[in-house]
Amino acid sequence: MNIILLGPPGAGKGTQSAGLVERHGMKQLSTGDMLRAAVKAQTPVGLEAKAVMDRGELVSDAIVSALIDDNLGAMPVDQGAIFDGYPRTAAQADDLDRILAKNGRTLDHVIELEVDVDALVERITGRFSCAKCGALYHDTANPTSEDGVCDVCGSTEFKRRPDDNEETVRTRMDEYRAKTAPILPGYEARGIVSRVDGMGAIDEVASAIDAILN
Ligand code: AP5
Ligand code: MG
Repeated sequence: MNIILLGPPGAGKGTQSAGLVERHGMKQLSTGDMLRAAVKAQTPVGLEAKAVMDRGELVSDAIVSALIDDNLGAMPVDQGAIFDGYPRTAAQADDLDRILAKNGRTLDHVIELEVDVDALVERITGRFSCAKCGALYHDTANPTSEDGVCDVCGSTEFKRRPDDNEETVRTRMDEYRAKTAPILPGYEARGIVSRVDGMGAIDEVASAIDAILN
């Protein structure tokens, strides 16, 4: 099973990917996470991507498609892949078709998380994650069970993303509308698009996604 989770910033792609990994043993391929790891490690890709990400603009198609190519190629063929935040442009969608074909895989579902844009800024500015294991939280909608302690690994250190401020979020949303939303009709023509109401509680959204996969 190979699926794309599509939706604007803050739609819940990362949150739902984590659930799918846990419930179905799939692997999450998040270009945003890969790029943040590259920035942290100060690799050439990271050095090139940092300023672009801080502005909320899109990193080059060549860079992100190479990341997906490398990571998918290293996966066992029988493990399902969740593409989180990729593809984001028409060129990336074409690249993904080629990369999947090369690996003997086909795309089963494109799941669009439909969200109310007004709620997204609040979701993103309230987001934080565990500095050790990366588990995602939200100040009010999804806090840790015990104040200041990660539910997953027990760490007491947390972090916030540098691009999670209101101004950058607006640019990220503009980029989504202008460059990413237009790739949907191509997938619709193939009959593989499903829509899920992303405004429900996290477990309700998860159940709706499972209903599509089963
Ligand atoms: P990326 O990391 O992909 O960011 P994004 O697309 O802006 O999406 P987010 O990660 O912000 O949101 P999400 O949908 O994962 O939401 P989450 O589950 O965290 O990309 C970052 C940057 O990298 C880009 O701007 C670009 O520069 C670059 N980049 C990455 N991929 C690229 C590509 N392919 N091409 C070019 N450039 C690329 O949830 C958000 C918050 O809401 C959390 O706090 C969560 O707890 C909470 N929440 C989640 N679901 C719910 C719910 N149902 N109810 C209430 N709260 C919820
Ligand atoms: Mg994410």
